[in-house]
Amino acid sequence: PAASTSAVDLTSEILHALSDKDPVLSAETFPQVPFESIKAALDRLASRSMVTYEQVEREEATLEPEAEVIVSHGSHEARVFEAVREALDGLSIQDLESKVGDKTVTKVGQGKAFKEKWIKKDGNRLVALVDSINDVTRDQLRVIQETRTHDPKILADLKKRKLLKMQKVISFTISKGPKYALEMIKEETDLTAETLASGSWKTATFKPYNFNAQGADQHSGALHPLNKVRHGFRQIFFEMGFTEMPTNQYVESGFWNFDALFVPQQHPARDLQDTFYVSDPPKAAKPCPVSAADKQDYDEYFRNVRQVHESGKYGSIGYRYPWSEDESLRLVLRTHTTSISTAMLYRLAGQRQDGRVPPARYFSIDRVFRNETVDATHLCEFHQVEGVIADYGLTLGGLMEFLEMFFAKMNVKDLRFKPAYNPYTEPSMEIFSYHKGLNKLIEIGNSGIFRPEMLEAMGLPKDLVVFGFGLSLERPTMIKYGISNIRELLGHQVDLNFVQNNPAVRLDKD
Ligand code: PHE
Repeated sequence: PAASTSAVDLTSEILHALSDKDPVLSAETFPQVPFESIKAALDRLASRSMVTYEQVEREEATLEPEAEVIVSHGSHEARVFEAVREALDGLSIQDLESKVGDKTVTKVGQGKAFKEKWIKKDGNRLVALVDSINDVTRDQLRVIQETRTHDPKILADLKKRKLLKMQKVISFTISKGPKYALEMIKEETDLTAETLASGSWKTATFKPYNFNAQGADQHSGALHPLNKVRHGFRQIFFEMGFTEMPTNQYVESGFWNFDALFVPQQHPARDLQDTFYVSDPPKAAKPCPVSAADKQDYDEYFRNVRQVHESGKYGSIGYRYPWSEDESLRLVLRTHTTSISTAMLYRLAGQRQDGRVPPARYFSIDRVFRNETVDATHLCEFHQVEGVIADYGLTLGGLMEFLEMFFAKMNVKDLRFKPAYNPYTEPSMEIFSYHKGLNKLIEIGNSGIFRPEMLEAMGLPKDLVVFGFGLSLERPTMIKYGISNIRELLGHQVDLNFVQNNPAVRLDKD
């Protein structure tokens, strides 16, 4: 059978082969047909119980090119013998070589022919000792060419002589099944309106269900590891009574990202080296009421921010520099989600009644951008987890206690706090935790109590204290998933299989 046999022909050929011989070995009867085609045809037949089959593995011998030459021209020794025998009164060694036409064949063949006592030396001529010989090697190779196997000893010997190699071949032993027949009956797969209307369903043969068929691999969607860890953080925030802030904007005005946060306009963070500026559109609109219900006086707020920067207010002496409105209206890719927290706190100030606002807990987890040099632990964009707590009578010790509770929910214990600096918080603390793997304290977040320069300018009551803290989502994710290069987690080098195959995450377990 040719390799081009179609699927239908193949099933029929298998059925016919079985009528002559049972069982049939596929490797012998269909040596050219690829494994997959045989298997597909057998599965079709087996699903109708027309055949049964078993997969067997066997070793097959294939001839090396040199052995193919021997099959067609004879072994080296036989060729030497024939050349000598044909020359009735013997041959000189030089003549032998030109007659055989191959130096190696002549040399190797001569040696063997001597050993077999087929030829001998007579003076300086070679003469035949017998009339005819048996070319055993050639005969053996011929058998192997046809059947791909032979006596194990012979195979081992020929293999040693590098005339053949052994290969594992998967084959099938095929036998007649209980419903064996020479032809395959057409089996209906569906009950249709037509077969019902015509009544042909009464006599039709229906294909039985194949309960052994394996379902196709379904590629379901998969959550990115960052999304899984984000989910874990969200649960913790919800548990602790936080509401989520709307962070669905990457572009901010310098006002909300910096100025409202009391970050001076000449602060290094506002540099092109640290911040991405948007060139088009060139400028943001001035903050203004967003709806008719919005009663906040943005002009006053804007004036307060200018004043607190330029000359100070609320007990602060300010930075004492000419504050530029244009600079505050430049557009930036937000460098932190604290811009959103700030806008949310301003909205909270709008809820003021009789000089009081209700306590609030807000959180967000979203993307921020910084103009950094990319390396194994830094990208130009990452995700910030941020929380804000506004209440009366809060103290720094309360912030530390809160952070300890918050991180304990991720099984991160024994926090250390280090005094730090943020233009918008005072005091500020970096949060450290001991990392067992790295055997040292690593920074896991930043926190502080927002400054009156920021809060009072919004109109928030003087005695309202606001905690803030932030951390990256990438760092805990990398620790949880054992990733050392951030580029394996985010960006164009991410392996989709890594995303597909990653397990769920338990923030509370190591
Ligand atoms: N915005 C800070 C950062 O980018 C985090 C922070 C938020 C710090 C709120 C204090 C208060 O790291």
